[in-house]
Amino acid sequence: MMAPMNSTNIHQSPFVRACWGQPVPYPPVWFMRQAGRSLPEYRQVRADLPMLESCRRPELVTEITLQPVRRHRVDAAILFSDIVVPLAAAGIDLDIVPGVGPVVADPVRDAAAVAALPRLDPDQVGYVADAVALLLPELKDTPLIGFAGAPFTLASYLVEGGPSRHHERTKALMYGAPQVWHALCARLAEITLTFLRVQVGAGVAAVQLFDSWAGALSEADYREYVLPHSTAVLGGLAGAGVPRIHFGVGTGHLLPAMAQAGADVVGVDWRTPLSEAATAVGPDRAVQGNLDPAVLFAPWPAIEAQVRRIVAEGASAPGHVFNLGHGVLPATDPDILTRVVALVHEVSAG
Ligand code: CP3
Repeated sequence: MMAPMNSTNIHQSPFVRACWGQPVPYPPVWFMRQAGRSLPEYRQVRADLPMLESCRRPELVTEITLQPVRRHRVDAAILFSDIVVPLAAAGIDLDIVPGVGPVVADPVRDAAAVAALPRLDPDQVGYVADAVALLLPELKDTPLIGFAGAPFTLASYLVEGGPSRHHERTKALMYGAPQVWHALCARLAEITLTFLRVQVGAGVAAVQLFDSWAGALSEADYREYVLPHSTAVLGGLAGAGVPRIHFGVGTGHLLPAMAQAGADVVGVDWRTPLSEAATAVGPDRAVQGNLDPAVLFAPWPAIEAQVRRIVAEGASAPGHVFNLGHGVLPATDPDILTRVVALVHEVSAG
């Protein structure tokens, strides 16, 4: 008999169990940015469709989300979408430019621009709920991760007008007009929470809040300018019954604060060993990570040694979800990713 497709199976999946710090037969593994990027079958179905348009087509989102699950046998799927999807859906004029990233037509740099920011109506992202509904029966026992951008990272794109190395305009607003900054982040927290609630309502098994660029701040500034807003998002999902993963890059010094924001799982990049991260986030939280995505370009024996080290270091946390320390780089050989999944499963069994 076929296993029933119900949420009981998802809750007992190695991924969800590891997120809650429950015993698992092996560390579950998935890869940030596994959907798209390095897969030829992704490039084929995307063809000439613009990124944002692709995110609005539930059948296409379903296919792209499933591709890495089929190919690599990862333990979780992540919804194909982008952190700027809810901003565009709310009516902010922006685009995702190939090879560049999100570009905002009218950067948000003063009180008037912040006051003019729209709210997100759940119906404006109905296509995301539709995609989740299509995905659940296809995924069967494989959990689906929903996600959103955290207020600081979204604010950086809105204030800079696009990707930024130093976040100088963002910091100028943050330090120069703290009230405007807090109003901006409060609005972004609302949009993000609405977006995540739509995904949870549609049935995702976990959510990840991406604060990719939060590592640009000192701990004191993170606590003052960012933590209250990320806490509003994660705290707003406290009773939702799904694990909350909170991730950033270069955040070794921020791990305790990011855990405090209300994370069940804290994402760790490759600069901090997982054993150290586990101590930093405290005994009640799992960790996720942390293979350097650039290591995947090294010869296999070097990759294998690092994977084994990370599995061993992750064992010191109550729960460990194996992942990269940041997203899959576009030129990564997909076969190497498949091999890493098999190795993680095998190392722990052995
Ligand atoms: O993880 C997954 O596979 C799910 C899909 C996903 C995308 N973006 C698809 C995407 C996720 C989780 C994201 C999150 C995202 N988007 C983040 C946080 C994660 C991180 O990497 O730090 C950020 C900062 C963005 C903003 C963004 N969108 C960037 C920097 C880029 C890359 C620009 C480029 O072309 O290199 C995008 C575009 C984007 N998002 C692509 C994909 C598959 C590439 C679009 C394309 O193929 O044309």
